Amino acid sequence: MKVLIFGATGLLGRALMQEWTSDEIRGLGSREVDIRDGAKVQNVVAETRPDWIVLAAAYTDVDGCESNQALAFAVNRDGAVNVANAAKQNGAKVFFLSSDYVFDGKKRSPYEVGDQRNPRSVYGRSKAEAEIRLLEVMPECCIARTSWLFGVGGKCFPDTILKLAASRPTLDVVDDQHGCPTYCVDLARAIIELCRKDVSGIVHVTNSGECSWFEFAQEIVKTAGESTEVRPVSSRQMARPAPRPEYSVLSATSLRQYGIQMPSWQDALRRYLEERHR
Ligand SMILES: NC(=O)c1ccc[n+]([C@@H]2O[C@H](COP(=O)([O-])OP(=O)(O)OC[C@H]3O[C@@H](n4cnc5c(N)ncnc54)[C@H](OP(=O)(O)O)[C@@H]3O)[C@@H](O)[C@H]2O)c1
Repeated sequence: MKVLIFGATGLLGRALMQEWTSDEIRGLGSREVDIRDGAKVQNVVAETRPDWIVLAAAYTDVDGCESNQALAFAVNRDGAVNVANAAKQNGAKVFFLSSDYVFDGKKRSPYEVGDQRNPRSVYGRSKAEAEIRLLEVMPECCIARTSWLFGVGGKCFPDTILKLAASRPTLDVVDDQHGCPTYCVDLARAIIELCRKDVSGIVHVTNSGECSWFEFAQEIVKTAGESTEVRPVSSRQMARPAPRPEYSVLSATSLRQYGIQMPSWQDALRRYLEERHR
């Protein structure tokens, strides 16, 4: 297979570049091609002639999206449409990364792929609109929703917690938002397998299990052998520009149909900590 990855310099992109060894891979960051530039996207896709395009490029600063709405939609929605149009004209299939933030978080059981989108943030809206437009341009594309990514080589929650834990005796972390942490390496492996299986439609891909950010932080500190005390606080006490879903656990049912079982987030965290120390 020939694969073109947009967003190869990001958290997930780096894991994809590292894990995807058995096919012909070309990875691009925003410096090589800005996905807002439809003509450039078209040229690079025509020149590469990939079987799959993995679209991991996005403006992912959830709070930044609230104050930069035009940028959020230009990259996350319109950029995605540029990639889908180029893919369609050149016989490639698109694997698009989407987010748990397309949901409002009002459910109390895992979100299924067919559940109603109702994003609460600009970032979530830009992803939800991208999903809808992509399915119009290329109904056979794959949309993989994931959540709470962590991995080496970029900013992520465990890395932030460990840096703070090194200098503070206590840490306050929100306990009223529940989701599932996902290790980029495990997500990358699932993406590779799904592309090989010629996946189509919407699929949810996260590590298994669920927790609050507070529980995640507790496990990070404990597993890393730190003594910092982690204290639960409410989202109201830690106000952020973008509203987050209270509950955004994604169901594994869609992934099981492809015979893929994801490791637990605790197991993934242990492997991340090992990788971080290497
Ligand atoms: N992080 C999460 O918790 C999370 C959760 C759910 C879903 N997702 C989705 O998963 C995917 C990967 O996320 P991530 O955390 O790996 O992202 P990330 O680390 O923020 O990396 C973003 C990537 O997108 C590229 N990019 C940004 N703007 C671009 C533009 N205008 N044109 C071309 N490339 C551009 C960046 O390139 P440069 O670095 O070269 O600028 C970088 O390679 C994204 O679609 C994201 O929305 C992430």
